Amino acid sequence: MKKISHALVTGGAGFIGSHLVDELVANGCRVTVLDNLSTGHRHNIDHLGDRIEFIEGDIRDAGLLNQVVKGCEVVFHQAAVVSVSLSVRDPSHSCEVNDLGTVRVLDASRRNGVRRVIMASSSAVYGDDPRMPKTEDMALKPLSPYAVQKLTGEFYASVFGELYGLETVCLRYFNVFGPRQDPSSPYSGVISIFMNKATAGEVPTIFGDGGQSRDFIYVKDVVRANLLAATETAAAGRVFNVGTGVVIRILDLWKLIGGLSNVQMDPVFDPPRAGDIRESVSDIGRIRQSLGFRPHMALRQGLIDTLAWYRNPSQGPRKK
Ligand code: NAD
Ligand code: UD1
Repeated sequence: MKKISHALVTGGAGFIGSHLVDELVANGCRVTVLDNLSTGHRHNIDHLGDRIEFIEGDIRDAGLLNQVVKGCEVVFHQAAVVSVSLSVRDPSHSCEVNDLGTVRVLDASRRNGVRRVIMASSSAVYGDDPRMPKTEDMALKPLSPYAVQKLTGEFYASVFGELYGLETVCLRYFNVFGPRQDPSSPYSGVISIFMNKATAGEVPTIFGDGGQSRDFIYVKDVVRANLLAATETAAAGRVFNVGTGVVIRILDLWKLIGGLSNVQMDPVFDPPRAGDIRESVSDIGRIRQSLGFRPHMALRQGLIDTLAWYRNPSQGPRKK
């Protein structure tokens, strides 16, 4: 990897952010983490000790941001209210964090000479357009406040590039999974919830008929996409899908996790969630051709590795 001298990772105590921090540190990069610990945890980064600088604070705090971005070459903006259904329940709060917070991160970056900002966008921006797989140039039809907020972030990134010359790259992650994904809330990612249920021998709930599909990508592959986005010249000013192109239905996902866990339980079916997308699968031709990115981890092996983490009492999700 080309070296990054100093990076700020917003949301760096969270699931994806903490894996990114690990890789940056392993590559000899100086790392600052800004996180308000609303859904992230100190224990995700505690093992790094004083090899990183951790600042507990909020991305909406412009004064604080101006201090922490000073001297940073790259900003990886991961902090967000992440749940689609939570944004449906409380659109004002998710708007404040996901929209205003993102503008504050971009503004502090351009004022303080940051070279490039990598934005965690989402496949949610595609919404319910029935054409599959999703390519970056398709029409965007957000279905939830969260999706609108991620799309707004992309527009801001583009405008900051044109107005202020700030390099930005937007990565539309599909559904990310792996160790450290926190299963403790009903708004957590579905694989973390299913792993928790399987490990505890509890019955899972499926929203809808379970026929909705997702493209799940392993967290370490998402980290590699971020590092390419930060270091490749060809990435500047662009939007990329980050997925695998492989799709699975949610009911089949439960059966697969149940099989790997040696539990056989029929799920309970509840009505579909408002704002939920039915189908989602990525076309990753653009990022493959432009940045040479390919996912390394297959879904089944990724689930086996993740399950091992959930079962390991010395790692695993901590009880609150
Ligand atoms: P996460 O909840 O584990 O991480 C988000 C982090 O941001 C947490 O550590 C949280 O404490 C922090 N945070 C939230 N609000 C903050 C604020 N106001 N100020 C400072 N810190 C704040 O979730 P994640 O899955 O790691 O998501 C990381 C990013 O990736 C998010 O931007 C999310 O929208 C995006 N994303 C995630 C997925 C996925 O499947 N997990 C898919 C697409 C996009
Ligand atoms: C997820 C991410 C979102 C990201 C998007 C990209 C989380 C919490 N959300 O949203 O940040 O932008 O991917 O595609 O990481 N489901 C059940 N039972 C459960 C939980 C979920 O049936 O107990 C269903 C949901 O209704 C949905 C699917 O599983 O149909 C996936 O849900 P979820 O993991 O919350 O992800 P997304 O909503 O796709």
